[in-house]
Amino acid sequence: MLNFKQELVKILNKTLPLEREEIEKLIETPSDTSMGDLALPCFILAKTMKKSPAVIAEELAKTIDAKPYFDRWEATGPYLNFFYAPSVLMDTLVETIEAHGIEYGKSDEGKDKTVIVEYSSPNIAKPFHIGHIRSTLIGDALYRIAQRLGYNAVGINHLGDYGTQFGMLISAYKKWGNKEAIEANPIDEFLQLYVRYNKEGESDPSLREEAHQWFKKLEENDEEAKKIWQWMRDLSLREFEKVYNRLNIHFDSYNGEAFYQDKMPEVIQELKDKKLLVEDDGCEIVDLEPYQLTPLIIQKSNGTTTYATRDIAAAIYRKKTYDFHKNIYVVATEQNLHFKQWFKTIELMGYEWAKDLVHAAFGMVSMEGMSLSTRKGQVLYLEDVLNKAVEKTLELIEDRNPDLPEKVLVSEQVGIGAIKFQELYNQRIKDYVFNWDRTLSFEGETGPYVQYTYARTNSLIEKSGVKPKYDHLNSQLLTDEEITLLKLIYEIPEIIHESFVKYEPYFISRQIMEVAKAFNRYYYNCPILVDDEKTKLHRLAMVAMVKAVIKSQLSLLGIETPERM
Ligand code: ARG
Repeated sequence: MLNFKQELVKILNKTLPLEREEIEKLIETPSDTSMGDLALPCFILAKTMKKSPAVIAEELAKTIDAKPYFDRWEATGPYLNFFYAPSVLMDTLVETIEAHGIEYGKSDEGKDKTVIVEYSSPNIAKPFHIGHIRSTLIGDALYRIAQRLGYNAVGINHLGDYGTQFGMLISAYKKWGNKEAIEANPIDEFLQLYVRYNKEGESDPSLREEAHQWFKKLEENDEEAKKIWQWMRDLSLREFEKVYNRLNIHFDSYNGEAFYQDKMPEVIQELKDKKLLVEDDGCEIVDLEPYQLTPLIIQKSNGTTTYATRDIAAAIYRKKTYDFHKNIYVVATEQNLHFKQWFKTIELMGYEWAKDLVHAAFGMVSMEGMSLSTRKGQVLYLEDVLNKAVEKTLELIEDRNPDLPEKVLVSEQVGIGAIKFQELYNQRIKDYVFNWDRTLSFEGETGPYVQYTYARTNSLIEKSGVKPKYDHLNSQLLTDEEITLLKLIYEIPEIIHESFVKYEPYFISRQIMEVAKAFNRYYYNCPILVDDEKTKLHRLAMVAMVKAVIKSQLSLLGIETPERM
């Protein structure tokens, strides 16, 4: 796609006593778009040209020829402002959208590079609760974004399928477990065992020790421990996969913590060889005091390994296996310290790729004042949240459009889309409170609003009875509303790029929201299905473009676009 900024750099380079790179750095995007699409501040030219910035801007405005890319340029104080030529803008967008189809914004910047996105990673045998939703959805969006940018994306679910809590579960199962009940309803039953074990453990300290013993057996490949563990893992994964399928979320690998069990001795040896381990109270630790971090425990006094050891082993394995360009961990801010500690350890081990490890952290969700802790057994299941969203959406549809065909399917797409959109609409790091009405509303800044806008584009096209063609676009007919839309659409590829650089899918959701809002303003101000045939066909082609763009962007967030709502 044509890049207006680069064109402007070339134009200015012909006149200004500056290098291309310098000019590129100078050019700004005015925050008030009525001032122009791009601006050249003339302050630093004042010294060499020995005139005031305002005079320079004035003079440049007269001498420069920025056609055909810009159709208007003018001095405003010390700035020289440029306006895109709408016809050029329109043509370049048509060309790109026709070429990219529903992958608008695709690029090859990631060619031959592998990006690992690790997300979701729930703990086996514990409920998949609303707290997990953030990692799952943010990670899935980053995975899709990486793909659109041409990276070879690898989605990994680093299942919490290992650790002391399995000792606890195995022990609880041996004491009180009922096989049939568990197989019928695994996650609930495991949760109950877990909660009971914690509760009874408060008055009976021997339970803790027993749990440790079972975990130790597991680490030592004890047959019984392994068998129970495998059974628990299979059952849990089966349940999780139901939710993933429903969310249309895919992983390339489920290699979780347990996968690294046999890779840990080597890591411990390596840490020893590199003189990074010190003994502390029977534990093997990495001293991180020089870096203002608490020590990282690698091996406990009873010989078992830790969550951190497994993360180190996993990173080394991934580097060997995938030779990643980035390895991104979508994990809650609660684990900030953990990630700082082991990223530092990797660096101390001498791996230059430590810099390619990214902790894409996110804040907490709370829900109508409810606690989300598993320990007390008070959880809100993700599945129930999804069911409720879909149910409530169906009620809304019954209310607004009871004759809609395929109501049930549409409710599923809109209810789940609403949850996803809401989750991806804010900066990761921000905590937020989940609110049903705000999430599901068809008005306001919600997923259903965008999906509804999409359905509106479709219904306009259907009503017209014509098949829109981009050939029908006519730059002579462009209205201000349409130019606004074109500019928003033009920004999208850069926004996708930025969203990946910052690991922030919300850049994309915000931009789609702007497109949807601008489209609705357009629709109210400029009737589409008018009598004048030329205008009608031109506007229908605009509608078709917006339709394609919304679809291409919602798909980056994993959100469906029902044709009717
Ligand atoms: N299973 C962990 C939990 O639920 C999250 C795992 C995060 N990923 C990692 N590589 N440590 O808290």
